[in-house]
Amino acid sequence: MQQDKSDPNQSTTSPVRKAANDNSYFDPTIPGGAALRGDRVLFHFVDAVSCETLEQLAKGVLDKFGGWPSDPVQQRKLGKHAKRELKSGVPDLVSDLLKVRHGTADAMHVTGLPEETNIARVLMLAMSRCVGDIYNFAGQNGGELIMKLVPKADGGENNNAAPGEFAMHSDDAAIPRDARVHCIALMGRKNPPGVATHYAPLSWALKKMASENGNKARRALQVLSVPRFQFAFPISLGAGEGIWTRPRPIISMGPDRRWEISFPSYNTRTVSPSDTEGKEMMAWLLRSLEAVKISVEVQPGSFFAFSNLRGTHSRDNISGGDREIWRTYGIESLAGLRNLTGEHGPIFPIEPLVKLAANDNA
Ligand SMILES: [Fe+2]
Repeated sequence: MQQDKSDPNQSTTSPVRKAANDNSYFDPTIPGGAALRGDRVLFHFVDAVSCETLEQLAKGVLDKFGGWPSDPVQQRKLGKHAKRELKSGVPDLVSDLLKVRHGTADAMHVTGLPEETNIARVLMLAMSRCVGDIYNFAGQNGGELIMKLVPKADGGENNNAAPGEFAMHSDDAAIPRDARVHCIALMGRKNPPGVATHYAPLSWALKKMASENGNKARRALQVLSVPRFQFAFPISLGAGEGIWTRPRPIISMGPDRRWEISFPSYNTRTVSPSDTEGKEMMAWLLRSLEAVKISVEVQPGSFFAFSNLRGTHSRDNISGGDREIWRTYGIESLAGLRNLTGEHGPIFPIEPLVKLAANDNA
């Protein structure tokens, strides 16, 4: 059951909060090209019959593999097999997930899924596999294929262990595109009510900027798409502190001719400290992303997959209550990671990628 976010009369079973000025960026008369129009976020409710189908399907997959495998190589195989089962058992769900993978949508929130741990693990891998091949870095969240995100009181700022607000960002902006996470998938296990995860499609933000000031928006695109910026490597990847990339653009054109974004807002700086125009455009982009974001609560039984290339995400402050979210990293192909690291995966070292992207003079 797919719901169109652009129809304000449609209800959704997902706890969605819309941005305050939400109608402005759906105006199809604003120039900007086909890529800036259309429904970018899908909502999919799994009904009781499909839920039962999914449970049986996951049980069958577990039987075939002799239970849940601990080896990530086997888990990846399980995910690939489970995806095939999913395709024949719940084709409408797979068809929507493939839209996120292939760029006709940017994000999808699925609700009504079975919650039992082993069943949920299988479905996590099966659905993740629909939006990309699954991998992780050895230094991130214990190098597990399904990463367990649990906040810690001493978790610092702007990372997955931080209980405070996690500001707007892309994951792995510092890493070369072919080895960077393309699609992030989250599965809810525990989530305090009201703690939302936000997603902002870049195309909506660009459209909003064009509607505010067309000439300035064109200039912003020029400024943001040249290498006038640098990103700091996130500490959560195990790369160490204070490592910045070589000069990079924030916005670039992907191979499918869609705009893509690399923007950890708290870890991005202009190459020149006196580049006031670069800073101004960066701030405008951030304001626009904040204005167009959609919000979902990744509660138990829900799955949220979104493109890390075509949008940015953030998370509310976790004020009280336990939280546990499972996460997978998806990429169109492991080939780039294999080429750049010399490893077969699905768990890769981060060090070769840091060496490749780091600015020697940073
Ligand atoms: Fe993130």
